[in-house]
Amino acid sequence: MRQKLAAGNWKMNGTGAALAELTALAEAFPAQATAAGKSCAQILICPPATLLSRAADSIKGSAVTLGGQDCHAVPSGAHTGDTSAEMLQDSGASAVILGHSERRADHSETSESVAAKAKAAWAADLVAVICLGETLAERETDDTLKVVGAQLAASVPAAATGANTVIAYEPVWAIGTGKVPTLAQIADVHDFLRAELTARFGAEMAQATRLLYGGSVKASNAAEIFATSNVDGALVGGASLKAADFEPIVAALNAST
Ligand code: 13P
Repeated sequence: MRQKLAAGNWKMNGTGAALAELTALAEAFPAQATAAGKSCAQILICPPATLLSRAADSIKGSAVTLGGQDCHAVPSGAHTGDTSAEMLQDSGASAVILGHSERRADHSETSESVAAKAKAAWAADLVAVICLGETLAERETDDTLKVVGAQLAASVPAAATGANTVIAYEPVWAIGTGKVPTLAQIADVHDFLRAELTARFGAEMAQATRLLYGGSVKASNAAEIFATSNVDGALVGGASLKAADFEPIVAALNAST
């Protein structure tokens, strides 16, 4: 069984004052179990790298884990302003988001560079949360599966396993817009991704790999998204910044079967 995963991407938001949100989240979700006695979904919060080591103190004893939002493909060297996977791991991260559409757009990241970063993440014992998604123009020309299939093929290295990799489907047009694909559209993509993983890596790996949906997830739409075929959790932006907004999303994931 895949452990469900509620992931929050704080993007370039948050200074020390935001750690109070993490403390509140950690108190709401202690490590062991939900109130119903079921094991809790994994919670992953990816704050700015500047907050990671302080955040590690805030989440002790809880179901909350920490991740970075990007890493460099090499462990160290003359790369001013970049952060390596080792540095993230040393600061308390157990995962890193890679290939987010904002990085693909703002920093011209290609799927090939995402794959190189995934290998660097694994070398530092980080889980790679690899993001894929089509633009509105690609959706409108019916190219969604072609685009996400190509991104999946080129962004995920051959050594991927269900333990070291999470795939996040985030339609670019749904990020921060309040627009969400229909549940049928989400199911189409997630079923396709599971089938693609099966074809390339085999059933065991494909069944073990978490597939997250991301893009305007909030408390009011979380339950129906979590009930959708092959959705194992969410990657949440805006609604992960406040514990009061994120808690009901985690609760909806814990309640989903
Ligand atoms: P929003 O939840 O704010 O739409 O952002 C989604 C996202 O980009 C998460 O990585």
